[in-house]
Amino acid sequence: MANPIKTAVFPVAGLGTRFLPATKAMPKEMLTVVDKPLIQYAVEEAKEAGVEHFIFVTGRNKNIIEDHFDRQYELMNILKEKNKIDQISILEHDLPSAGQTSFTRQQQPLGLGHAVWCARHMIGKEPFALLLPDMMVQSEVGALKQMTSQYEKHGNNVVGLYEVPHEDVYQYGVVKIDEQDPGQIKITDMVEKPKIEDAPTNLMIMGRYILQPEIMMLLGTQNKGAGGEIQLTDAMLKLLEFQGFSGVKIDGKLFDCGSKLGFLSANVSFALEHPEVGTDFRNAIKALLKN
Ligand code: UTP
Repeated sequence: MANPIKTAVFPVAGLGTRFLPATKAMPKEMLTVVDKPLIQYAVEEAKEAGVEHFIFVTGRNKNIIEDHFDRQYELMNILKEKNKIDQISILEHDLPSAGQTSFTRQQQPLGLGHAVWCARHMIGKEPFALLLPDMMVQSEVGALKQMTSQYEKHGNNVVGLYEVPHEDVYQYGVVKIDEQDPGQIKITDMVEKPKIEDAPTNLMIMGRYILQPEIMMLLGTQNKGAGGEIQLTDAMLKLLEFQGFSGVKIDGKLFDCGSKLGFLSANVSFALEHPEVGTDFRNAIKALLKN
């Protein structure tokens, strides 16, 4: 049995070039799905899984993320004057407790692996969760929580997996698994963007990880990989040589909110389920589609 995961890393220092000009001055992670920024969904998912320390790897133009998780005194005072109790309780509810957030900087966007490595001193010798906030899952039980029970049973490293149509595998990192082991999905290899005919499975690495701290040492000695960036997958492959990796097939709908199509789909899907606007939105969409 492994101890529950208490720390999560959120890399939010990317440039978000696929979303320009929206992301010229505003971080991609602050784009909203219905009424909440992407980063807040990720933090809530981590909280649901038992995380108590939230580490953000930020970069230039990302201060707004830090502000989002802080008190907004002026706004609070005005809401109090106007007796807007509901809005006050939303803001209170969303706020992490004192000392639960930490921020570090990735001065240059040298890749996801490099962003994770920037958090090494905050992680120390503890295993940690890693959540890519632009990968959103709509599900009853949050994606990270789906993974923690597996982690607590088997320890080691755990990777969230998502089944994609076989003809789409060339766009993603996918895993090879040990078919002999039905109790848990044992990962034996990871392949970035394979040719369709070479793909070992259609199980995509979907942006949720539980990693042992040794990954930091490997990231620190890592050469630049694809796209001239320090790739997390390259370091995970090295870690796989001496530590186990298991996979959890994530139950739910996955949206890649780093792409326009994924982001728009997420907005539609979350709006349809939204307690306040869901019904009216469904009618509005029906009316739009009629024309
Ligand atoms: P992406 O691969 O989506 O890259 O990053 P990006 O730079 O944000 O977006 P595009 O491709 O230019 O449109 C996945 C996650 O990793 C973070 C991003 O902020 C995002 O949350 N990231 C990526 C970093 O923190 N640093 C990096 O150097 C790269």
